[in-house]
Amino acid sequence: MDRVNHTQVSEFVFLGLTNSWDIQLLFFVFFSVVYLTGMLGNSLIVFTVTSDPHLHSPMYLLLANLSFIDLGISSVTAPKMICDLFRKHKVISFSGCVTQMFFIHLIGGVEMVLLIAMAFDRYVAICKPLHYLIIMCPRMCTLLLAAAWIIGLIHAVVQMSFIVDLPFCGPNKLDSFYCDLPRFIKLACTDTHRLQFMVTANSGFMSIGVFLILIISYIFILFTVQKHSSSGSFKALSTLSAHIIVVILFFGPIIFFYAWPFNTSHLDKYLAVFVSILTPFLNPVIYTLRNKEMKLAMRKVCSHLASFRKIS
Ligand SMILES: *[C@@H]1O[C@H](CO)[C@@H](O)[C@H](O)[C@H]1NC(C)=O
Repeated sequence: MDRVNHTQVSEFVFLGLTNSWDIQLLFFVFFSVVYLTGMLGNSLIVFTVTSDPHLHSPMYLLLANLSFIDLGISSVTAPKMICDLFRKHKVISFSGCVTQMFFIHLIGGVEMVLLIAMAFDRYVAICKPLHYLIIMCPRMCTLLLAAAWIIGLIHAVVQMSFIVDLPFCGPNKLDSFYCDLPRFIKLACTDTHRLQFMVTANSGFMSIGVFLILIISYIFILFTVQKHSSSGSFKALSTLSAHIIVVILFFGPIIFFYAWPFNTSHLDKYLAVFVSILTPFLNPVIYTLRNKEMKLAMRKVCSHLASFRKIS
């Protein structure tokens, strides 16, 4: 009740990415194409994996879950950003802003744990191949997924709990294209230095911690592969390199965002674009272009869809 009383700001205004008309047009075309292609690619992966029984192994099921998450990541910010490009007055309601921040942190958290689960899956497949089917049983997959969603949820709730009591009394211009938690907090009419630190530390520690876990597990796997090099390990290496590329693309910008100690003014806005639109677009490209099984299954799905269209 108290919060409602001194919250006078009912909407926030985004300053957007640029004011130049030409660049806006360029962004509009580019982001629309990348966003729609990403949605299409990720939907195709989810559809292919769920409909093809050959792909019902933990690796592909986790990949399908990653694609599902990627559908969410880009949809939280991208459509609004694209629609806003040509609007003079880019507004978002107070509750819209909080919702956006909640889902960014929820989905971001889930994606991080999911990447660990995928690394664990590769670790078991490569380092303990004889026990793979026993360790990565359906129950283990469900457990890993549940852990991902629970940790993501806790992370998002903790981040939101920092801002639930903040008073907003006037300034409402966010120099971004989405509700970015650190910038949002700065607008509150109170001393927010401690809060800003907590929020940044929370996301920063989480992303750096997960990144380190992933890098260490990849190094460990690579050493194991190198020790018993055989024909099978070459295939393992190619899957693994896809994982590593995805991890660097995802964490690079995020860690820079939360842990870079210097003022980066505009750079972080563009990094946010990277995480929210480009990474979800690149994931399916990276995973499928290097994977024959996946390409084959996708081709089958596409030709099925094409023939289905001809019949109906
Ligand atoms: C996520 O993985 C589980 C099994 O671990 C699977 O049953 C489910 O279909 C997957 N979700 C998607 C969207 O592919």
